[in-house]
Amino acid sequence: SLPSHVRLVEVGPRDGLQNEKQPVSVADKVRLVDGLSAAGLGYIEVGSFVSPKWVPQMAGSAEVFAGIEQRTGVTYAALTPNLKGLEAAIEAGVKEVAVFAAASESFSQRNINCSIADSLVRFEPVMELAQQRGIRVRGYVSCVLGCPYDGDVSPHQVAAVAFALQAMGCYEISLGDTIGVGTAGNVRQLFEVVGRDVPRERLAGHFHDTYGQALANIYASLLEGVAVFDSSVAGLGGCPYAKGATGNVASEDVVYLLDGLGIETGVDLSRLIEAGQRISRTLGRETASRVARARSVA
Ligand code: HMG
Ligand code: MG
Repeated sequence: SLPSHVRLVEVGPRDGLQNEKQPVSVADKVRLVDGLSAAGLGYIEVGSFVSPKWVPQMAGSAEVFAGIEQRTGVTYAALTPNLKGLEAAIEAGVKEVAVFAAASESFSQRNINCSIADSLVRFEPVMELAQQRGIRVRGYVSCVLGCPYDGDVSPHQVAAVAFALQAMGCYEISLGDTIGVGTAGNVRQLFEVVGRDVPRERLAGHFHDTYGQALANIYASLLEGVAVFDSSVAGLGGCPYAKGATGNVASEDVVYLLDGLGIETGVDLSRLIEAGQRISRTLGRETASRVARARSVA
């Protein structure tokens, strides 16, 4: 049976905007985050404390944290790849962070400049300091259904990395179909295999819509007992210059799907659409949410 309630992790301000070619001002990011919390999202990934040489778009994350309205009951999180990142996050008053590993060696090298095994070693002191400070840590595994460099990825490899993150103290592991190649069939198989090592209530699905499969993959995940999904308002993300690349599944479309299934999210779809339309106007492009597009012509 399907879950009665789903928790949405809004990653637009981070996973979305990290891929934007044009700079987005701190004020526009703050407005986006505040619009998302006003729409009822309970978990918002606000930014990253990563090397500005690697991801210049996230350089102003401390200022964004300082500028947002911190509503009670909402978690405002940041990505921290190493101890330096966690220290900067703590300095900015961040109360929840995420570490990110990959299921494929090439992606790990390109994304965080080290092997999978080295990344896990690097996360140890992050986990330790976070625990001392009472900061919860979420874990990501990227490329769970395919890698742009290595091709196919085995679900057993994903399970090994997810298990390692859980064993070192991550309270939840988000499995990312970074390039959006998964289908309902291999998504079910993935959760079936990973679910043997990590309980499903500790797993989340993170789908990109490159091949148009994200909503089907979420439905497949629901059937596997997964009840936490990452999504991005207006489908922000992807690279406008990389052929075929798209962002995360649009939050509006996920909420529409879940509303239709009678599954509670606590999110007000109309206000979410407004927040998505506002950031799309700021970026000077049409929203990638099909629901928002349909509503705007209705
Ligand atoms: P490195 O070059 O190997 O690091 O990068 P290093 O330790 O050798 O340091 C090099 C320089 O970076 C030094 O500065 C450090 O101080 C600085 P310099 O002396 O040259 O002036 N540095 C930092 N600066 C700010 N914050 C930090 C930090 N750490 C070092 N935390 C590193 C290694 C991990 C830092 C780099 O590769 C990096 O920042 N990578 C982040 C990449 C990233 O953010 N990717 C996107 C997120 S993952 C994702 O999107 C997938 C996900 O959405 C799920 C999915 O879709 O599948 C989560
Ligand atoms: Mg992503």
